[in-house]
Amino acid sequence: MNQESISKVNQIGWDQSVYQAWVNRHGLPNEYAQKLKSNPTRAVSYYIKYMGDVRDKKIANLLGSKGNKAVSFALLGADVTVVDISKENRRYAMELANQADVNIKYIVSDLLEIPEEDKLADFDFVVLELGVLHYFVDLMPLFNLVRNSLKSGGKFILRDYHPFASKLMNLEGDKMIANGDYFETELVDVDVAYSILLSENERAKLTKNKIRRWTLGEIVTSIAKANLNMEILEEESGIRWAFPVNSPEGIENKIPGLFTIIANKY
Ligand SMILES: C[S@@+](CC[C@H](N)C(=O)[O-])C[C@H]1O[C@@H](n2cnc3c(N)ncnc32)[C@H](O)[C@@H]1O
Repeated sequence: MNQESISKVNQIGWDQSVYQAWVNRHGLPNEYAQKLKSNPTRAVSYYIKYMGDVRDKKIANLLGSKGNKAVSFALLGADVTVVDISKENRRYAMELANQADVNIKYIVSDLLEIPEEDKLADFDFVVLELGVLHYFVDLMPLFNLVRNSLKSGGKFILRDYHPFASKLMNLEGDKMIANGDYFETELVDVDVAYSILLSENERAKLTKNKIRRWTLGEIVTSIAKANLNMEILEEESGIRWAFPVNSPEGIENKIPGLFTIIANKY
């Protein structure tokens, strides 16, 4: 299957009951906007430590979903553009921005098919995070796009689920077992990430997403090949929410749940 077909499947997946899922998780946009306004750094504090003061900075939040990070950055004075394939995500994000009294630009498009008039360029930061790389069947077009979106001296911040946990580890009963295939290259069908926020009835109606999981070596090599200069590769411990809810206690301190890569364009 090529990128176009996979993106089509995933667009359908992400345009189903996602608005309702965010309402179930965060409340209506006006309710969530008040929370973000009362503490604009909360949702983005992890990133701010790598970004410093974002006032007047241009930030591209790729696959930015419900827009909570974008709105937080905008509340901190940044000029933010989101790209995401789901118009239902855009609906929640734009209402959120509106209720928080900030402007964000939200492009609904396959990231690799952005119309010429919306082409990304001259960004200080590109932020791509949390359940993202697996939507791409080839990482090179993705990281080349990231490089072309940055201005010279701009910074790429990638934070995603650690392949060790997502490719290898599985929950069986109350135990985590390393019975996956780290080197699996095939596409797999998975439940859409937000399905856990819906009732069983609503969940049953959802179509699946199609994803390709990447190894850490493939990710790092592709970033280097795209001529992005890697500064940091952080493997994070202690992130409980990166693991399934029923995971054994303390597993988050033994297995990296997330990784972050900071890379610059020269
Ligand atoms: C798990 S979410 C990312 C999480 C998000 N950064 C956050 O923290 O809220 C994945 C997002 O990728 C979007 N997506 C999937 N494939 C895409 C593609 N080819 N181009 C653009 N967006 C895509 C989905 O619509 C979804 O909003």
